[in-house]
Amino acid sequence: MFICFEGIEGGGKSTQIQRLEKHLQAQGLGVCSTREPGGTQLGEQLRGLLLNHDMSDDTELLLMFAARAEHLHQVIKPALAQGQWVLSDRFTDASYAYQGGGRGLSMARIAVLEMWVQQGLQPGLSFIFDLEPELGLQRARNRGEASDRFEQQELDFFHRVRAVYLDRAKAAPERYAIIDAAQAEDAVFAQILNALPQ
Ligand SMILES: Nc1ncnc2c1ncn2[C@@H]1O[C@H](COP(=O)(O)OP(=O)(O)OP(=O)(O)O)[C@@H](O)[C@H]1O
Ligand SMILES: [Mg+2]
Repeated sequence: MFICFEGIEGGGKSTQIQRLEKHLQAQGLGVCSTREPGGTQLGEQLRGLLLNHDMSDDTELLLMFAARAEHLHQVIKPALAQGQWVLSDRFTDASYAYQGGGRGLSMARIAVLEMWVQQGLQPGLSFIFDLEPELGLQRARNRGEASDRFEQQELDFFHRVRAVYLDRAKAAPERYAIIDAAQAEDAVFAQILNALPQ
C-alpha cells in the first residue's frame, strides 16, 4: 500500500504520518515512512536547495521530479516490492498544487514529467489535509523554525495550492480522502483511520 500525505503547510501531515506509522507497526506491519522532496541522500540535498535557494519556476519543477525519480528508484519501489506500507509526506500531487497552482506552471507539462518518472505507478490513497491557509501558516510559524521559500509566499499562493489539491481530490474521489485538518489531533487521526482500506 502506497499512501501519501498532502496539503498546505501546517496541516499536520508530519504529525499524523508518525501516528499512522506507529499504529501500523503495532499491528506487525512493515512501514516505510519517507518524505518529499527528499527521502534519499541525493533527494535531501535537493530538498535543501529547493527550500532555500532561489531558482526559476521551471528549475524548481524539474528538481522536484529529479528528486522524485531517485526516491522512487531507491526507496518507494523497493519498499513496495518487499510488501511494506509506504507513507510519503508529499508526492506528485504537491507538484500539481505548488508548481502548477502556486507558481502557475502548465499542468500538462507536469503530467508529462509524472508519466516519465512514475511510469504508471500511483499512490493507492492520498490524504489531503485541508484547512484555511491562515490557520496552517500560523501553526507552521508557531513551530519556531526559520521559514523556507514556500512558507514565505503570500497568502494567495496557498489559496491557489489548496484549490488544486481539492480539485484533484474531487476529480478522483476513489484515490483521495479529504481530511478536515482544522480539527484537533486525535480527531484528525480518527478521520485517517476511517479512510484506510479495511
Ligand atoms: N490537529 C492539530 N491541531 C493543532 N495543532 C496541530 C495539529 N496537528 C499538528 N499541529 C501542530 O501544528 C504544527 C504543524 O504540524 P505539522 O508539522 O505536522 O504540519 P505539516 O503539515 O507537516 O506542515 P509542513 O507542510 O510545513 O511540513 C506543529 O507544531 C504541530 O504540532
Ligand atoms: Mg511537515
